[in-house]
Amino acid sequence: TGSISHIFFVFGASGDLAKKKIYPTLWSLYRDELLPEHIRFIGYARSEITIEKIFENAAKYMKVKENEHEKYEKFVKINSYIAGSYDNGQDFENLNIEANKLSKQDSAHRLFYLALPPSVYESVTELISKYCRPKSPGWLRLIVEKPFGKDLTSSNKLSLHLKKFFTEEEIYRIDHYLGKEMVQNIIVLRFANQILSRVWNRDSIATVSIIFKEDIGTQGRGGYFDEFGIIRDVIQNHLMQILSIIAMEKPRSTKGEDIRDEKVKLLRSVVPIKLEDVVIGQYIGDKDSTDVEHQQGYLDDKGVPKDSTTPTYAQVVLKINNERWAGVPFILRAGKALSEKKAEVRIQFHDTPGKIFDTESHPNTTLARDELVIRVQPNEAIYLKINTKQPGKMSFNIEETELDLTYGERYKDIQLPDAYERLILDVFMGSKINFVRSDELQEAWRILDPILAEIDKKKIPTIPYTFGSPGIQQAFDIAAKYGYIFRG
Ligand code: BG6
Repeated sequence: TGSISHIFFVFGASGDLAKKKIYPTLWSLYRDELLPEHIRFIGYARSEITIEKIFENAAKYMKVKENEHEKYEKFVKINSYIAGSYDNGQDFENLNIEANKLSKQDSAHRLFYLALPPSVYESVTELISKYCRPKSPGWLRLIVEKPFGKDLTSSNKLSLHLKKFFTEEEIYRIDHYLGKEMVQNIIVLRFANQILSRVWNRDSIATVSIIFKEDIGTQGRGGYFDEFGIIRDVIQNHLMQILSIIAMEKPRSTKGEDIRDEKVKLLRSVVPIKLEDVVIGQYIGDKDSTDVEHQQGYLDDKGVPKDSTTPTYAQVVLKINNERWAGVPFILRAGKALSEKKAEVRIQFHDTPGKIFDTESHPNTTLARDELVIRVQPNEAIYLKINTKQPGKMSFNIEETELDLTYGERYKDIQLPDAYERLILDVFMGSKINFVRSDELQEAWRILDPILAEIDKKKIPTIPYTFGSPGIQQAFDIAAKYGYIFRG
């Protein structure tokens, strides 16, 4: 075996994210032989725990198949764990010594994944930079998870801090929605198809909705969630990212910087949100449900204060002040504890003018408007709702149908990779397309910051909704007022 070429550090190795996402991702990349051959993994956290125990806890998420055990053992062998504090230089010096033992020249490339609570970000990043940098020509890449701050001020403070210790090139801000197949496909759909790019504007489009629904509650994550709420947890990052790709102008190329330039430009054109266009809600338990989880309201989550007013549901309507989008409402809606799990973009086109189908034999025929749906998950699909003639002898009986590209049908044999797999591979390859640049982050905060502050200041109450319900009527009413047409 040759000398070690890469060391991957998992900070927060004993935590939830490491267990559910990071280690399973590293294992599956290793299994598929997509990682550099001479790599080692070092976990780091405060707990006095062993690497064996970490893997035992993660077993359920690793999904090791019968015939993979030998390989899995090899993977476990190249992992190790070191316990240490998050704020003591001595511990980071030790970590560096341990890492140096692995690679003779100390110049192996180093990747640091921070799966950590935000309260320790600053000290950890500073100490990594001070004590754990590789020797040249090894490079360093720092992968950071949200939350990137709580508001514009704290986010800028964190950015400034990181800037003191790392170059922008070294920082990879993860938004795992950018690793999802259907989100990545939006750029191709929009810019590789004339038939779509021609109609992608206010002349043809009436409304755009970006919707995120979960059928689970906070499930014990209430302690983290309560400090942030759904607007910061999902809308500020995942939905804003989708919005910027759906609405941006055509980038000069598919290079990371060109795409991110366009995303920032778009976000800059979003006008301040009005409080009247915002709905916030919080779920309550469904006493009649037979499902125990559904009986629990948000306030029943152990980590949540009994008088919490944190929203678990929110809808905001955004307007974009540019030539392409002026007048088109962008409705962003996100909620936990709803009736289903689904993330999708719905683009509704203007109603068809000129009622030629309204005949004597079929009076009052109203045509459903065309709608393009990009279903991000589950069951990935792109479908276009159109009107068609009911097949058969009866002339001009019209029905709605779909031009349907459902991935499970068309790409039966392709297993779509998990978002984290794709993104971690991107980091190895040094590709920044699917990572958030600091100015994008700043713009996303700029848009939501005033409304978050207003909600706090005016103590806007959340509207209760029942676990397992489709959502909040007031939100649907606002969407309808903006011209969104609901249908079954
Ligand atoms: C995370 C949020 O970023 O995304 C969670 O913190 C949310 O609250 C999750 O559940 C949803 O991700 P996915 O990939 O399951 O849609």
